[in-house]
Amino acid sequence: MRDDQITITHFIIEEQRRIPGATGDFTSLLNDIVTACKVISNMVNKGALIGVLGSAGSDNVQGEVQKKLDIISNEVFINANLRGGHLGAMASEEMDEIFPIPASVPRGKYLLLFDPLDGSSNIDVNVSVGTIFSILRGPDGAAPGLDAFMQPGTKQICAGYAVYGPSTMMVLTTGHGTNGFTLDQDIGEFILTHPDLRIPEETGEFAINASNMRFWEPPVRRWVDECLAGTEGPRGKDFNMRWIASMVAEVHRILTRGGVFLYPLDSKNREKGGRLRLMYEANPMSFIIEQAGGMSSTGRQRIMDIEPTALHQRVPVILGSKREVERLISYHEA
Ligand code: F6P
Repeated sequence: MRDDQITITHFIIEEQRRIPGATGDFTSLLNDIVTACKVISNMVNKGALIGVLGSAGSDNVQGEVQKKLDIISNEVFINANLRGGHLGAMASEEMDEIFPIPASVPRGKYLLLFDPLDGSSNIDVNVSVGTIFSILRGPDGAAPGLDAFMQPGTKQICAGYAVYGPSTMMVLTTGHGTNGFTLDQDIGEFILTHPDLRIPEETGEFAINASNMRFWEPPVRRWVDECLAGTEGPRGKDFNMRWIASMVAEVHRILTRGGVFLYPLDSKNREKGGRLRLMYEANPMSFIIEQAGGMSSTGRQRIMDIEPTALHQRVPVILGSKREVERLISYHEA
C-alpha cells in the first residue's frame, strides 16, 4: 500500500467527525458492514468452487426465487452486524419482518436496511452483482419496531453499495459527496480510488428493460422513442442503450460515466407500485446519486421525499444524469 493511499477505515473516521453527536458507533458499524461485504465478495468470487451457485429452492417475501447466495449473504450480513452494539434493528430484502437485536446483545441507536445480494439472477452467469445498504437513526430508548423504519430517504445518515465485478468496489455517502473505494485483495482493505464522484449532467446513454415496452406509460415511451430516433429525431443525437439487470452495476456505470437508469411504473407493475424496493434499493441509490450531482425521481416525485408505508414497498425509479431526469419529469408533468 502506498503512503498516499487512504483506507476506508481512515476515511470513515474522518466522516464520523462531521456527524453531530457521533461517538464512534458509526465508524464501528460501517466497519462491520465493510467486513460483511468482504466476506460476500470472497464467496461471489469463489462461486462454483465452494458450491454456492444455484437456486435455494425457496421464494422471498416478494415471491422471487431465492438463490443460495441470497440466503448466505443475508446471514453473513446479519452475523457481521449483530454483536457490535450499534444497531437497534435490521431489515433485509430477504426477511419478511424486521430483525430486532436480541436482548442478549447491547442495543445501539442505528437501524440498518440492506439488500444483501442485488441482481442475483446474474450470479450463476458470472455477471456483476452487489450489496446495497442504508443507515437510519433509530428512536432513543425503547426497542425499535417497524414504525421506526418508516422514515423518508432524506433521513438516511449513510448509504452505500458494494459491487462485485472485475474489482470489488464500495461506494458510500454520508451526505458530503459520494466516494468510491477499491478492494485491494492482497491486503484485504478498501482503498479510496474514486474520490468525490460526479455524474455528468448530460448523457447519451440509458438503461431500461425494453422487453417491457408495451407496458410503459406515455411519458417514458415518448422519451425512449425520442432517444431511439437518434440524429434524425427531435433530440438530434444518437443514444446508446445498456441493460445488465443488476441495479448496482447499472448505478455504478452511471456514477462513472453518466447515463439514466429507469425501472418506471408500467401497467404490469402498477398494482405493486413499481418494481424496485424503496427502503433498501431506491432510497440508498438515490442518496448516492444525488450526492454525486445526479437526480432521482419516480417521474412524479423525488424518491427521497416519499413517506414509506411498508418495509418492502415498491416504487418507480428514474435516476442518473440531471438533464435527462429533468426531461423525463417534464414529460410526466405534460
Ligand atoms: O431486484 C432488483 C433487480 O435485480 C435489479 O438489480 C435490476 O435492475 C432489476 O431487478 C432487473 O429487473 P428485470 O429482471 O426486470 O430486468
